[in-house]
Amino acid sequence: MICKIAGDSQVNQEVELNPDDSPMKDSQLKTAHRVENISPFRVMKVLQRARQLEAEGKKIVHMEVGEPDFSTAQPIVNAAQVALKKGYTHYSTAAGLPELREAISRLYADRYHVSIDPQRIFITPGASGGLNLLANLLVDQGAGVLMTDPAYPCNRNYIRLMGAQPQLIPVGPESNYQPTIALLNEYVRDNTCGLWLASPANPTGTIISRQQLGEINEWAGKHNLHLLLDEIYHGLHYVDDLPSLLELNEQGFVVNSFSKYYGMTGWRVGWIVVPEQFISQVDMLCQNLFIAASTISQYAALAAFSAGTVEILEQRRADFRRRRDFLHGALSDIGFTIDVEAEGAFYIYAGIEKFSDNSEEFCRKMLEQYGVAITPGTDFGDYRARQFVRFAYTTDMENLALGVERLARGCALL
Ligand SMILES: Cc1ncc(COP(=O)(O)O)c(C=O)c1O
Repeated sequence: MICKIAGDSQVNQEVELNPDDSPMKDSQLKTAHRVENISPFRVMKVLQRARQLEAEGKKIVHMEVGEPDFSTAQPIVNAAQVALKKGYTHYSTAAGLPELREAISRLYADRYHVSIDPQRIFITPGASGGLNLLANLLVDQGAGVLMTDPAYPCNRNYIRLMGAQPQLIPVGPESNYQPTIALLNEYVRDNTCGLWLASPANPTGTIISRQQLGEINEWAGKHNLHLLLDEIYHGLHYVDDLPSLLELNEQGFVVNSFSKYYGMTGWRVGWIVVPEQFISQVDMLCQNLFIAASTISQYAALAAFSAGTVEILEQRRADFRRRRDFLHGALSDIGFTIDVEAEGAFYIYAGIEKFSDNSEEFCRKMLEQYGVAITPGTDFGDYRARQFVRFAYTTDMENLALGVERLARGCALL
C-alpha cells in the first residue's frame, strides 16, 4: 500500500506500508508541520477536569466557559421544531438562507443605521467558521496579522494554520486592553497584511470606542491593511454606544454569531459581512470549506430577531450586568486587581499578583482544592499572562456567591 504523508508543504513523500502493520506505528504517521505550532485551548482542559471532579461527586462552580448558562430562548427552539417537522433537512445555499441574510441586513439598518446589501452577508458555522474562512481569504503564507495580547486564543491559531504569523501587540489597562495608534506603529511590520480586533473583547470585556475605531480604521487604510472586527459580543454590552465597523468602513470585515447574545452556542451558526468585491470568492470558500451552515440552525436563527425573543434576551443581558457588578465588587474585595471595567461580554480579567505569580498553578489550586473553575491568563497570550485569570460570569447569582466565598477562603490562605 502507498500512503501519502504530509511533511514540508512543498513535498509529498511516499512511503511503502506493509498491510500487516495496520494500524500503522505512530512513527510512520506525521501531522503537517503547521499543526505543531498550534496551542491547546486550555479552558477546555479546565472544563474537562471540572467535569471529572463533578463525576466524583464534587460541587464545582463553573466560571471558566465562555457560553451563556441560559438555554436557547423558547421561540428559537420552537422555530427549529417547526422547520424539522416541515422537513427542512437539506443543504441551504452556500451563503445561507436568503431570508436569514435579509434579516441580518435589517438588524444592521435598525441597530446601526447602515444599509448592508444581504449579498455581502454570509452565514457560517459559528463565528469560528467565519474567522477560519476569512483567514483563508485574506492571509497568505508568510504574511503577518496584528492582534492584541491578550486576545481570543483561536485567532492566533487560524493565522498559524495559514503558515502566517500572528503579530501580537501587548496591551494593558492603560489603553483599555485595546491597541493605540502608537502601539500599532510600533508593531506593524513589512509583511503585515491585516489587523484583527474584537469589541467587546475576550478575555477583558473592553470595547473600542467610536473615536478609537475611527482612528484605527484610518490607520489601517493608510497602511493598506485589511481590518477585521469580531463583534460577537455585540448585544452583550453595558455601555450606550457600541459602533459596528460597518458604520465606518465599507471595506471592513465583520464577524458575528448567534452564539453569545442569542444564546445559541451549540447550534453552530454565525455570520460574516465582507466588502462587495469579495462576494464571489467568499461564496466559493463557503462551498468548499463547509458547503453551508446547518439548515435547521438557520431556520432557528430566523426567530432570534422576533420581538418575543428580544424581550427574553434583553432580560438576560440585564442579568449579566447584575452579575458583572456583583462579581467586580466581590473580587476586588478579595484582593484581585481589576483595573478596567468590563464594558461587555461576560468576562472579568483580574490580576492575581497579591496571591501568586503563576496563573496556571493558581487556577489548578482553586479548582482542585476549592471547586472553582476559572481560566488562566496563559490561554489568551503571553503578555503578563501568568499574573491574570479570567472569570466568566456565566452562572447564576447563587453560584457566583458560592464561588466568591470559596475564592475568599482559598486566597486568604495564600
Ligand atoms: C471573541 C470570540 N470570537 C469567536 C468565538 C467563537 O464563537 P462561535 O461559537 O460563534 O464559533 C468566541 C468564542 O468564545 C469568542 O470569544
